Amino acid sequence: AASDPDLVARAKAAKEALGGKVFVLGHHYQRDEVIQFADVTGDSFKLAKDAAARPDAPYIVFCGVHFMAESADILTGADQKVILPDLAAGCSMADMATFNQVEDCWDTLEDLGIADRVVPVTYMNSSADIKAFVGRRGGVVCTSSNAKRALDWAFEQGEQVLFLPDQHLGRNTAVLEMGYGLEDCVVYNPNRPNGGLTDDQLKNAKMILWKGHCSVHGRFSIDAVNEVRERVPGVNVLVHPECRNEVVTAADHVGSTEYIIKKLDAAEPGSSWAIGTELNLVQRLKNAHPDKNVMFLEKTVCFCSTMNRIDLPHLVWTLESLVRGEVPNQIVVDEDTAHYARVALDQMLALP
Ligand code: 13P
Ligand code: SF4
Repeated sequence: AASDPDLVARAKAAKEALGGKVFVLGHHYQRDEVIQFADVTGDSFKLAKDAAARPDAPYIVFCGVHFMAESADILTGADQKVILPDLAAGCSMADMATFNQVEDCWDTLEDLGIADRVVPVTYMNSSADIKAFVGRRGGVVCTSSNAKRALDWAFEQGEQVLFLPDQHLGRNTAVLEMGYGLEDCVVYNPNRPNGGLTDDQLKNAKMILWKGHCSVHGRFSIDAVNEVRERVPGVNVLVHPECRNEVVTAADHVGSTEYIIKKLDAAEPGSSWAIGTELNLVQRLKNAHPDKNVMFLEKTVCFCSTMNRIDLPHLVWTLESLVRGEVPNQIVVDEDTAHYARVALDQMLALP
């Protein structure tokens, strides 16, 4: 649907009034009505780098979800304020690993005598206290665009990896990009004693995968891949690595949101693309490439409901509050947590 012209005008006016005082970051899953006001757009890696580059503005409005805004707060300057236009924009995957659960897991590894050889790696999609936990124990953060490099590095530091919280990104990277077998991966269930695993399973696994997943990407099925291949001859299946292993294995191309966009930019006119990621992005790609046959991989629509919470009314409210000198919805990570989370984030930014 087209954006409300009155709200568009208000957002424009407020942004103009703020001038260089505000910098808007927009994740690729954001609505078009919001993306049009972003100073930069990106996947979570690019947005972290953009925040770390310290845009010269006192207010950073982060159009994305909570863990991304936390990371931006950690990486930006002490005098900069990071704002999330709707505090309810969380990420169900990030919520699947709590600090206490991860501490309990680590205690289990210590009791088994293997904690010294396990390197914790957390996906960007995790809370700041999980990132800090990982930073305190010599681990690293990764995103969907550098997971292989992060795991290569981790396996130089130790013999096993505890991968938080997305089992699919961990498994897909290890199996499809690094040559490990499915049998090298075990899934640790935080709600079961010992993660639901035997001591030997924990000791022998190369990858101890946290039992977390993305509910949006979990919906893409192998049936949808088979169906589209039958219906559209020559179709290219392009999916995000948060999809299940069987889906990613059956796809032609796998990558982050930024990768998906670049792939489409480079695609031949007339080519067909079935895309397995969030719907706002697929819809935008469809509109941007009328000369290509771009379609959503599943039949049912799949927005990320929390990304979608940031809408034009919330953005207008945020910008107009800033014009009045009020700072709404500031995301502040406490200093101790920020320090150790920064250790793990800086390690990611320093990966070769
Ligand atoms: P990207 O890093 O690929 O943008 O992914 C972030 C995300 O939340 C995907 O669900
Ligand atoms: Fe989280 Fe999935 Fe939404 Fe990404 S798409 S923000 S992983 S719930």
